[in-house]
Amino acid sequence: MATRVVVGTQWGDEGKGKYIDMLAKNSDIVVRFSGGNNAGHTIVAGGVKYALHLIPSGILHNGKTCIIGNGVVIDPAVLLREIDELNDKGINTDKLLISDRAHVIMPYHKELDELQEKFRGSNSLGTTKRGIGPAYADKTERCGIRMCDLIDADLFKQKVKANLDVKNLIIEKVYGGQGFDAEKVLEEYSQYARRLKRYVTDTNSVLFNAIEEGKDILFEGAQATFLDLDFGTYPYVTSSNPVAGGVCTGAGIGPVFINEVYGVLKAYTSRVGAGPFPTEQDNEIGNKIRELGWEYGTTTGRPRRCGWLDTVMIRYAAKVNGLTALAINHVDTIGKLSKIKLCRAYKKDGVEISHFPASLKELDKCEPIYEEFDGWDTDISNVRTYGELPENARKYLSRLEELVGVRIKLIGVGKEREQTIVVT
Ligand code: GDP
Ligand code: IMO
Ligand code: MG
Repeated sequence: MATRVVVGTQWGDEGKGKYIDMLAKNSDIVVRFSGGNNAGHTIVAGGVKYALHLIPSGILHNGKTCIIGNGVVIDPAVLLREIDELNDKGINTDKLLISDRAHVIMPYHKELDELQEKFRGSNSLGTTKRGIGPAYADKTERCGIRMCDLIDADLFKQKVKANLDVKNLIIEKVYGGQGFDAEKVLEEYSQYARRLKRYVTDTNSVLFNAIEEGKDILFEGAQATFLDLDFGTYPYVTSSNPVAGGVCTGAGIGPVFINEVYGVLKAYTSRVGAGPFPTEQDNEIGNKIRELGWEYGTTTGRPRRCGWLDTVMIRYAAKVNGLTALAINHVDTIGKLSKIKLCRAYKKDGVEISHFPASLKELDKCEPIYEEFDGWDTDISNVRTYGELPENARKYLSRLEELVGVRIKLIGVGKEREQTIVVT
């Protein structure tokens, strides 16, 4: 049996989807454990591009059981659209399972996400406005609606009415927005319930049994370490725990059952939305990285902010997640620059520090200390072994390994699932 977790080590969009799709080939079950359709995972297989938001990226391999775990928040309309789109492309979704404990994103969550962002004005977080934060807030406030409630018409009606009594007041009286009509919400969601019921089950039992039977299980991280509610650049974070520990609470397995943790990173850094970013290059270099790597959001289409790779962040991610391997992407992209910088540590108040501060005020004082490397202006998209990489690329990667203290196991040299070097 092998259980593997794939997590993001930066601010998301590291290329997790590509590696999950690749590792899914040798897995029996693929499980999403956190986030919702704020995630956008791109996979290019056989020249066809797929953008998945809720369904685990293992779905492209026929016959794999794909689980949406209890830690995920589900927008039923988005999920059904994703199922339909996959079916239209000939992808079978019959082995999809949805946890009966997963929380449902309701229309008032999306409305509140919009209104709260507007209300924050210049302090807005740059959320995806998919209702993610308000849905998790209801979960912790203990008024959330779960999938097991959605498929029980009477219970659902009670819960929607009780919620709307309060939510409409907040939407109308606090934010001056337009409340929701309970009957309309019930009508819309009863259609979703009817179609989704067949997928809803006790996924925890499915996982317990799979572990007992020695099956290979892959846990698909969404978002990333620096978007984590506890470990990220709070409050510029998402509202869940996308770190490896989130597997225990978001899928329902004990920590002893986790064997390997892959930390995915890009050979540079990108971020969508607001918040600190010490190595950001808000200049020609950042623009060049954005164009070379085509850094535009999979979910919202927003241009991603770009900058140099920051090993202070990756070292922190290595500890928080217990990384056993690094999986790096866009090594083809970064090599196209003539000079590449790698952040080794920060200088704060005249002193070199190698940890990532919690206080954003302290973080703001941090100046990256860089090491400089030469690029490798050769096309490496067809390289499949480490030894064949240009010497400059190997120098950059081995220094990265040294600074982080974790072995690089996978190297991405292009968008396609095959464009990967497996380091042996
Ligand atoms: P995720 O959210 O972590 O799954 O990542 P996204 O799919 O949002 O963003 C990663 C982007 O980089 C996608 O457009 C991928 O197709 C692309 N990508 C992934 N790995 C590589 C790579 O090694 N080289 C290049 N050029 N593109 C890559
Ligand atoms: P994947 O899985 C990049 C960011 C948003 C915003 C912040 C909070 O594709 O890597 P939210 O809607 O979650 O309340 O927004 O988090 N964000 C992501 N950024 N990739 C993602 O997912 C993200 N999911 C959320 O842009 O800054
Ligand atoms: Mg993404």
